[in-house]
Amino acid sequence: MNYEEHRRNYVLGGLRRENLTDDPFALFEKWQAQAIAAELKDPTAVSLATQEPSGNLWQRIVLLKGLSEGGFVFFTNYESNKARALAQDNRGALLFPWHELDRQVTASGHLNKIGDDESDRYFASRPRASQLGAWASDQSRPIANREALVSQYESAEQRFGNGIIPRPAHWGGYRLVPEQIEFWQGGEHRLHDRFRYVHTPSGWVVNRLQP
Ligand SMILES: Cc1cc2nc3c(=O)[nH]c(=O)nc-3n(C[C@H](O)[C@H](O)[C@H](O)COP(=O)(O)O)c2cc1C
Repeated sequence: MNYEEHRRNYVLGGLRRENLTDDPFALFEKWQAQAIAAELKDPTAVSLATQEPSGNLWQRIVLLKGLSEGGFVFFTNYESNKARALAQDNRGALLFPWHELDRQVTASGHLNKIGDDESDRYFASRPRASQLGAWASDQSRPIANREALVSQYESAEQRFGNGIIPRPAHWGGYRLVPEQIEFWQGGEHRLHDRFRYVHTPSGWVVNRLQP
């Protein structure tokens, strides 16, 4: 396989200072809407990096489920590896890889659990199979084989029958409140446009960065 030949030019257009908004979330929402309109697969997928108690770094994709209280919200298992990492060190970083639009958005900040009521509301809106999945999976823990996993799912099915499935206490949302957000738009001749917003006591300060 030839890795070296895989490259392309980024010609979809630039990001100029006049395109920026004072509040980076306004620009984020515009770009997120464009990613959805462009029918990207998993347009809200975002890679989340955390630091584990051992000091090792890890990352994984989660789905963005909303913006609120100045942060990015996603849902997961509160006993997963990522949750254990966050219990020790609640810093994290996000990366939205919007290749088809020649864009990436990166952010870093601190994460905290969202309110139970917010998690209840979202959990109630999920398809039943996803609700059962949240009960069935002891996320990030080893399991002997797939049959055992399916059997955990079937136990959850039996437990709840046709009744309402409550949110498990071990499942809910986190919010990453960014201290920095960067917007990257690919440009010709590798002269990409990068704008980094940094949150300061007097508000957001934005700088163009060299590519
Ligand atoms: C497209 C995609 C979307 C995903 N969305 C979520 C999600 O919203 N929440 C979640 O907990 N895991 C999600 N996952 C699985 C995670 O990437 C990861 O495997 C899981 O959360 C366990 O991570 P951890 O062991 O580091 O805690 C998704 C994976 C992919 C590929």
